[in-house]
Amino acid sequence: MLELVDIRAGYGRTEVIHGVSLLVPSDGVAAVMGHNGAGKTTLLRAAVGLIKPTRGKVLLNGEDITGLRPSARVARGLAYVPQGQQSFGQLTTAENLRVVADGRKRGKALIAEALDLFPALTTLLDRRAGLLSGGQRQQLAIARALITEPKILILDEPTEGIQPNVVAEIERTVMELTERGDLGVLLVEQHIGFALQSAQHYSILAAGHVTSTGEGGTTSTDAVRRAMAI
Ligand SMILES: Nc1ncnc2c1ncn2[C@@H]1O[C@H](COP(=O)(O)OP(=O)(O)O)[C@@H](O)[C@H]1O
Ligand SMILES: [Mg+2]
Repeated sequence: MLELVDIRAGYGRTEVIHGVSLLVPSDGVAAVMGHNGAGKTTLLRAAVGLIKPTRGKVLLNGEDITGLRPSARVARGLAYVPQGQQSFGQLTTAENLRVVADGRKRGKALIAEALDLFPALTTLLDRRAGLLSGGQRQQLAIARALITEPKILILDEPTEGIQPNVVAEIERTVMELTERGDLGVLLVEQHIGFALQSAQHYSILAAGHVTSTGEGGTTSTDAVRRAMAI
């Protein structure tokens, strides 16, 4: 379980996140929705240690990790897939996976498992990541994150700018992953239908505050749109 407790964070003297708390279960999805500029990415950066919160705590399975560097958080089971489908463009798909898998005891098996989840990548192993489509790069980025054997996977807008058939595939994979029961996902998503379908719990972030929360399965996309309009 990942807990964000009353986080305040921002850039320089500008506070962007004004006291946000949320909980990501060990075996389910918590979604964060909100308009562009609401502070979603900033909140995730604070959670993974790329920026230092000015107040509040980050707890991973009860351990206070607020003071840890990003690499130490990865070692404890926090994986982060940033917005914008990033990978090493000059490296091939296979090399991108190996960079993460090398030095891990189960490295080879982990790559095989990741390719099982994203079969589309198996035909692209020798292609440079920079030449993949947005959807393929997103799948590669999630595959890389999974090779670190996370307890909590943090996804920042995984379906942004991706064609609908790949969106469906990413949705299916996220649901499949959490159904196994050993992974929690913090999903930032503007695709409300996907967020509600996969998340047990959601929060709406507006101007750095959580303005509304609810249960995924029982809420309509219209209700979320209305809540986001306030
Ligand atoms: N590196 C940065 N330096 C200064 N301000 C930033 C930086 N990144 C984002 N911001 C500002 O923080 C606010 C929230 O941005 P962001 O967290 O990216 O929102 P979201 O992910 O919800 O679109 C915006 O006003 C944005 O301009
Ligand atoms: Mg963002």
